[in-house]
Amino acid sequence: MSKVTVVGAGNVGATCANVLVTTGVADEVVLIDIKEGLSEGKTMDIMQTANILGLNTKMVGVTNDYSKTADSDVVVITSGIPRKPGMTREELIGVNAGIVKSVTDSVLKYSPNAIIICVSNPMDTMTYLIHKTSGLPKNRIIGMGGALDSARFKYFLSQALNANPNEIEGIVMGGHGDTTMIPLTRYAAYRGIPVSELIDAETLKQIAADTMVGGATLTKLLGTSAWYAPGAAAAQVAAAVIHDQKRMITCSALLEGEYGEKDLCIGVPCILGRNGIEKIVEFDLNDEEKELFAKSAAAVHGTNAALA
Ligand code: LAC
Repeated sequence: MSKVTVVGAGNVGATCANVLVTTGVADEVVLIDIKEGLSEGKTMDIMQTANILGLNTKMVGVTNDYSKTADSDVVVITSGIPRKPGMTREELIGVNAGIVKSVTDSVLKYSPNAIIICVSNPMDTMTYLIHKTSGLPKNRIIGMGGALDSARFKYFLSQALNANPNEIEGIVMGGHGDTTMIPLTRYAAYRGIPVSELIDAETLKQIAADTMVGGATLTKLLGTSAWYAPGAAAAQVAAAVIHDQKRMITCSALLEGEYGEKDLCIGVPCILGRNGIEKIVEFDLNDEEKELFAKSAAAVHGTNAALA
């Protein structure tokens, strides 16, 4: 039996739950929110979808009763307010820090062995906050950000190549912020062929720039933060854990010297399995990439400082 709880039944949380149910990731999915009736309503809608699709996953929607989340294997935290057009993710810290802390306490009271996936923004700082306040071992706290950013990178590459995005390798490291993301163009490839051999340098630069502001572009178009890909990316990370997939996915992880950094959570390629972050993979960065990573880490440290 596997059980996944999603905290927050807003757009991202509900989409994550929907993907978990419709792709059959867990035997049981619990959706919980503080807003009366919201989880129950979205659960009914998702279960009716599952029925149309002929699926049997059990899903439960609850208002603020954490006892129903007991013994979850994985808990996805999406709680907090999303950004509006013109806002940065970092501006959400004041409101979201309090929410994420209290949610983490409630989650761990009933699921002390769960692996936590943090989606709330500013994501790297919220992941770090969970580390600081929970005292959990570092493998059990995973920040979802790089999974989403890498999907956006592969999307833009696939558009330029007129190719299937599933046949493209693309990794985005660094912070999950408009100026802190690092699309690793040098390592991007189409069926093993470096993209630099297929796409001109100027276009590649534009793809990296579009990737970095991928979330902001959607926020401007939609009037609020995106949800389909963020929800699906959180479900992808949950699936890697539940099914012990040993997939390499960029996630925000606590660094203790890897890439020359420590005492922060930031996006790095991770091997994900039943024990959460089972390994941090250290790519051989060149001097330019190292400098970008150091700058990104400094910016994330700066946002973390606002937690004090
Ligand atoms: C985004 C938000 C979820 O990047 O951070 O769309």
